[in-house]
Amino acid sequence: MRVAVFGANGGIGRELLPRLAEADHEPIGVVRDESQFDAVRERGGEPRLGDLEGAFESALEGVDAVVFTAGSGGDTDWGKTLLIDLWGARRTVDACVERGVDRYVMISAFGASEPLGDPEEMRPYWVAKRCADDFLEQSPLEATILRPTALTDDEGTGRIAATFEHREAGEHAIPRADVAATVVACLETDEAVGETIRLFGGDTPIESAIDPDG
Ligand SMILES: NC(=O)c1ccc[n+]([C@@H]2O[C@H](COP(=O)([O-])OP(=O)(O)OC[C@H]3O[C@@H](n4cnc5c(N)ncnc54)[C@H](OP(=O)(O)O)[C@@H]3O)[C@@H](O)[C@H]2O)c1
Repeated sequence: MRVAVFGANGGIGRELLPRLAEADHEPIGVVRDESQFDAVRERGGEPRLGDLEGAFESALEGVDAVVFTAGSGGDTDWGKTLLIDLWGARRTVDACVERGVDRYVMISAFGASEPLGDPEEMRPYWVAKRCADDFLEQSPLEATILRPTALTDDEGTGRIAATFEHREAGEHAIPRADVAATVVACLETDEAVGETIRLFGGDTPIESAIDPDG
């Protein structure tokens, strides 16, 4: 599949591009600055320009699937959270519908399951993520929503704990590398289509956590 990754230069994005290439997909790294093109190429991706606060639609040319792992980050104000995590994500869903890109994997956040949870200062971020998730869920796209808990830059383990929505939650932080590997596993199976999956550090090999019968 030709997979366009929004946030290709971010923590999960950098882990994801080489994993997609190794799995025989064709990753397209969507970045907002040409100075990031070489980094995308070095990770096996085709770089394309796209700004979630501006124009990005041409980056979807010839694409089969989109992964959204962009974000405004923790150092910006809530205005940027609205513009990128919510409105930017929403616009990518609309663009996929318009262009016939059917498959979409959203990197959401654990707190989006209950946006009024604690700590209180995280609530606006979780609301933004939840609204983007709900918009995707109500779209005609074949969507998978991944809701990882706190991310780390630890080495990937190849193992996670995945609870499908409304089931018992795990507790452990999860390496970005394992979230990236889970995205690839989701693109390999229909079991993940239409699902919202919460992700934690855990002991289950990623492929069987996503598709026990696969
Ligand atoms: N941090 C956590 O603990 C945590 C927990 C759960 C879920 N998440 C979610 O997981 C995802 C990935 O997190 P991460 O920490 O790996 O990401 P990250 O390192 O913060 O990277 C975010 C990426 O988004 C890009 N971006 C920001 N604004 C953009 C714009 N206007 N147009 C295009 N791209 C833009 C950034 O581009 P530049 O490189 O140009 O800055 C960056 O590459 C995010 O959706 C986040 O909300 C994070």
